[in-house]
Amino acid sequence: MNIPFLRGGDIAPVPNSITQRCAADAPTLLRQKYGVYYNTFESQRGTRVSLGGRELVMLASNDYLGLTRHPKVVAAGKHALDTWGAGTTGARLSNGSRAYHTELEERLAAFLGKEACHVSAAGYLSCMSAVQAFAEKDDLVLADKNCHSSLIAGIGLTCAELERFPHNNARALAEILGDEPVERPKIVVFEGVYSMEGHIAPLPEILKVCAGKNCFLVMDDAHGFGVLGEGGRGTVSHFGATDKVDIICGSLSKSLSSTGGFVAGSRAAVEYLRTHSKQTIFSAALAPAQAACALAALDVLQNEPEHLARLWENTRYYRDLLTSLGLDIWGSETPAVPIVRGDKERAYFFWKKLLDEGVFAVMSIAPAVPPGKDLVRTAISAAHTAEDFAIIEKAMRSAAKAWF
Ligand SMILES: Cc1ncc(COP(=O)(O)O)c(C=O)c1O
Repeated sequence: MNIPFLRGGDIAPVPNSITQRCAADAPTLLRQKYGVYYNTFESQRGTRVSLGGRELVMLASNDYLGLTRHPKVVAAGKHALDTWGAGTTGARLSNGSRAYHTELEERLAAFLGKEACHVSAAGYLSCMSAVQAFAEKDDLVLADKNCHSSLIAGIGLTCAELERFPHNNARALAEILGDEPVERPKIVVFEGVYSMEGHIAPLPEILKVCAGKNCFLVMDDAHGFGVLGEGGRGTVSHFGATDKVDIICGSLSKSLSSTGGFVAGSRAAVEYLRTHSKQTIFSAALAPAQAACALAALDVLQNEPEHLARLWENTRYYRDLLTSLGLDIWGSETPAVPIVRGDKERAYFFWKKLLDEGVFAVMSIAPAVPPGKDLVRTAISAAHTAEDFAIIEKAMRSAAKAWF
């Protein structure tokens, strides 16, 4: 089968109206005609989901520790609904703050080794705010080229100058810093673990080149939290550099199996964020059940180390499998494992083959990934079982053998 638009062939001529633009858009066509995006599952049971009546192994979830159905997490959510109701119907700054927010913030701050923390209704909002709140006109923001959309969106809301440095390249960062006066405030923005690539940031090198250069470091650790470091304390703990990164932001929707986000740092920085982040001031507070589930998941992470151990056991097994099949996993070092196909068509057919074989992954194409790196993103969970891996292995073998 040949899908010309995936080769950039028959996309409509330059659209001259928004209606035309919508009708000729590649991601929209992929969703509507080829079922790539916004798939809606009819049910879920552990790592299995049902799509169009077929049971599939979920290989695209960020439920790294497999806690979404943990009895303590589910019970905590139910109890919070009974105690606090459905939502807060207001922003933290006005009427939305509750005791459970403070409790979760104190627990997260202590876990991360920071003085304070602020939680919000989405990781996207937290990560946006982690840059937007601090950057001012005339500041210089230096961001890794592969930073998540939320960070770039936050930077876009400021009047600060932006320079992107090549992904995970501390030497390139040093070159930019070398040309800048020390007096100019600089914010260095990067991820602890990159969600598409599965790469870990070269934190020791970044710290070295930033030393003495008046840099404020903002790290998005959405995919390092609960995965790396002592007891899952994240990328800073992995490198023994907890006090060296000014701000750690992230999500409650991955290892903590809930929704929401956090920003952790010094008390002064977090208080400043509370009065300077538009995402905090003008958006309703994290809902009770979401906060309670995240807090319960944090308890589980701290008291049941077997989940983290199993996550890494599963990850090693899976990465070895993909490598033995000759698949390009872009040097992933973590449970977020891409299968790079290079172009959209190869990515699509690989994705489809997995689906036909009973495995659900996610096709990710430029601009979500750099040009030439169109890929199928997969992610491993502690909850994946030997039976899941038997299905995954068969699907991968058959996709790896196919012409695409
Ligand atoms: C690196 C990174 N930062 C931030 C976010 C946003 O988190 P959330 O989905 O909780 O809004 C994500 C989610 O995909 C992410 O991968």
